[in-house]
Parts: sequence; structure tokens; C-alpha cells
Amino acid sequence: MKAEFDYTGCTVFVVGGTSGINLGIAEAFAAAGARMGVASRRQEKVDAAVAKLSTPAGAAKGYAFDVRDAEAASAALADFAETAGPIDVLISGAAGNFPVLAKDLSPNGFKSVVDIDLLGTFHVMRAAYPHMRRPGGSLSNISAPQSTVAMPLQVHVCAAKAGVDMVTKCLALEWAREGLRVNGVVPGPIDGTEGMDRLAPGEKARAMIAKSVPQKRLGTPEDVALACLFLGSSAAGYVNGQILGADGGWAIAGASIGAALG
Ligand code: NAP
Ligand code: COA
Repeated sequence: MKAEFDYTGCTVFVVGGTSGINLGIAEAFAAAGARMGVASRRQEKVDAAVAKLSTPAGAAKGYAFDVRDAEAASAALADFAETAGPIDVLISGAAGNFPVLAKDLSPNGFKSVVDIDLLGTFHVMRAAYPHMRRPGGSLSNISAPQSTVAMPLQVHVCAAKAGVDMVTKCLALEWAREGLRVNGVVPGPIDGTEGMDRLAPGEKARAMIAKSVPQKRLGTPEDVALACLFLGSSAAGYVNGQILGADGGWAIAGASIGAALG
């Protein structure tokens, strides 16, 4: 059965939505008819994404800010809501990653990733909160298998993404009474992305990772986008505080992931 979602008349904002998986997510919402907002640090990436995301529902709006800057995040979300109206769906997916052994990771390297992934997620959630549609607004944080699976070379990311999942669950508890739902999405290894290029560069590594996925293939941005379309829709109206894997079963393989990377 073909999955179809209709976001006509809805507003959607994707933070970190200018490349890779998150751009794929933004493109899927735009194709489903949503009016889009998009953000990341670099203005040229934002401009390129805006050009791709404008739909008959309206021109997309783009914002260049760093999620480590809470005030900048708040200003951008406020400006978007002022022009586009209450936000139906917020996706928070900005992240940083590089492979490094813990013994070689400087305190500032650890802090950089925690600041972007964990603090940044909180900043974005907090910035979006006053502007979400009530009732009915949906917020989804893009997590990673590192949130539950210990991996070599990934102590900073594992710590940060585990925290992201707890932010998701705590906000789901607090905000449900206001008609908001907060969930997480865990992409598996997604082909052709910056994350994969950094963690598993080269054809041999890609093939090895693909073999470690129970479904025996790498994922696509569309695989992750479909999970986000579901979570944002009325089909997920009673789904709250959940961390949904779009990973071909990769995270449940646990130890074998570590073996593949290590
Ligand atoms: P990507 O293309 O590098 O996407 C990261 C996005 O976040 C970009 O738009 C980037 O744009 C933005 N960004 C980075 N740092 C930022 C900051 N400090 N403030 C604001 N924006 C920032 O990477 P990806 O591989 O597609 O990963 C996307 C998400 O999926 C991440 O949350 C990642 O943890 C998760 N994930 C990826 C994989 C995978 O296989 N790739 C697997 C599991 C989970 P600028 O450079 O312009 O800021
Ligand atoms: N290995 C070890 N340490 C590294 C590193 C690497 N490959 N890359 C950066 N660091 C360390 C730096 O040395 C620095 O620590 P120091 O001050 O003790 O030397 C610290 O991390 C911050 O580096 P900096 O380059 O100033 O950070 P930034 O804020 O400009 O960029 C990053 C953040 C490092 C996460 C960068 O990789 C990035 O912007 N990533 C976004 C894209 C991405 O990672 N996509 C994949 C998502 S899954």
C-alpha cells in the first residue's frame, strides 16, 4: 500500500533542514503541500534549500542561525510564526559528528557535539514551544542509534543523543496537556549522507554496514521522512513520547553494530 500524507494548509519548520536526511524530510513535507520554514548555520545552504522548498502553499522561509545560540533560535521561530501562522510540525535535526577515540577527544570536542545535539535540541524545542498549534502541534527530534547503542569512536555522540531522547520524553510528558505531542525518530545508516561519509567512508565500509542491518540495505532520506510524515499526522494522534526507529532494525542488532564500526 502506498503511503500518502496531505499537509495542505499546514506549516512545517525543519531545523538543520538544508542537507542530507533533514533536507529529505523537508522536501517530503513540501511535496505533501506544507508551507515550509528551514534553518541551519550557513546562509548559502539555507538559500539553496529555500529554493527547493517553495510550494504552491507559499514561498519557503529560511533562517541562518546556530542552534547553540538560544536567542537566535527563538527569534527565527517567532519570525516564522508571525508570517506563516502557528506551526503544525517542528523537526529538530541539527547535529555534529566526527569519529574519534575517547582518549583522543578533547573536552572542547566533546562539548561541541553536546552543545549542538543536546543543548541545541533543547534550544529549538524551547524556541518553538510558544508558536506551536494548540491542540494538534507535533514536534519530532532526530536522534540516532547512538542514543541506545554504545559505539566505539562515538562517546560524545552517544552521550548527546541519549540526552536528546530524554529531552523528547520529558517534553512529551509536560506538553501533552496542551495538545502537543513530542516524539523522536532514529534514522539507521542512511546512504549518501554526511553522517555516513564521516563514520563509514568508502565502498567497503558501506557494504559492511549494509550487511549489519537486519533488512540488509542502507536507508534513504525518504525512509526517515515517511516516519516524520507519520508522526506529524493525525494517524499518530495518540503517539507521544516515543522514539521511532527508521533503521531497518539496526538498533536492535546492538552489539553487532559496534563490531561493524570498531
Ligand atoms: P548533515 O547533512 O550534515 O545535516 C546536518 C544539518 O544540520 C545541516 O543542515 C547543517 O547545516 C545543520 N547544522 C549542523 N550544525 C548546526 C548548528 N550548530 N546549528 C544549526 N544547524 C546546524 O547530516 P546527516 O548525516 O544528514 O544527519 C542529519 C541528522 O540525522 C542528524 O541529526 C544526525 O545525527 C542524524 N542521523 C544521521 C544518520 C546518517 O546515517 N547520516 C544516522 C543516524 C542519525 P549547516 O552546516 O549549514 O549548519
Ligand atoms: N577529531 C577530533 N576532534 C575534533 C574533530 C575530529 N575529527 N573535529 C573537531 N574536533 C574538535 C576540535 O579540535 C575542537 O576542539 P579543541 O578546541 O579542543 O581543538 C572542537 O572539536 C570544536 O571544533 P570546531 O571545528 O571549532 O567546531 P565547530 O563548532 O566549528 O564545528 C563540528 C562542529 C566539529 C561538529 C563540525 O564537524 C560540524 O560542523 N559538523 C556538522 C556536520 C556534521 O557533523 N554532519 C554529520 C551529522 S551526523
